[in-house]
Amino acid sequence: MVALSGEIKEVFGKVKVMPMATASKSGVPNVAPMASIQLVGDDTVWIMDNYMVKTLENLKENPVVALYFYDPDSKRCFQIKGSTEIKTSGPDYEKFRDQVRTKSHKYPAKSLIVITITDVFECTPGKEAGKKVL
Ligand SMILES: Cc1cc2nc3c(=O)[nH]c(=O)nc-3n(C[C@H](O)[C@H](O)[C@H](O)COP(=O)(O)O)c2cc1C
Repeated sequence: MVALSGEIKEVFGKVKVMPMATASKSGVPNVAPMASIQLVGDDTVWIMDNYMVKTLENLKENPVVALYFYDPDSKRCFQIKGSTEIKTSGPDYEKFRDQVRTKSHKYPAKSLIVITITDVFECTPGKEAGKKVL
C-alpha cells in the first residue's frame, strides 16, 4: 500500500488543475485537465466527473489512470498512477457532489472517480527524474 509523504501532499495541494491520463482497452491514450480534485487520506484521490467523455469511456473499459502535479514555486513534480472505481451514489459520492456544488451549482457532478494510488514517481528534472518513490 502506498502512503504519500507530507512533501508530496504539499506539492499536490498547491496545484489547481491536473492533467488526467487514461487509455482505452486497445491502448488509445487520452489526457484531459481536471480541477475538481481532492486528496483523501494518504493513498486516495477523488475527481468529480462533471464533463468527462473519453475519460469516462476509457475508465469503464480500462480502470487505470495517471496524473502529474507540478508546483512552479518549489519546482517539484510528481507522477501518480492508480486504479479507479466509479461511484454514482453512496456517502462518498454525495459528500464530494455537495462540496463541488458549493463552488458552483452548474456543475453536473455526475460521478465520483475514486483513485487508489498504486505508484508514485519523481518527475522533477534532474538526476532523480523518473525514479519510483513509492
Ligand atoms: C481548467 C479545467 C478544469 C476542468 N476540470 C474538470 C473536472 O474537474 N471534471 C470534469 O469532468 N471536467 C473538467 N474539465 C473539463 C474536461 O477536461 C473536458 O470536458 C474534457 O473535454 C474531457 O473530455 P474527455 O473526457 O473526452 O477527454 C476541466 C477543464 C478545464 C479547462
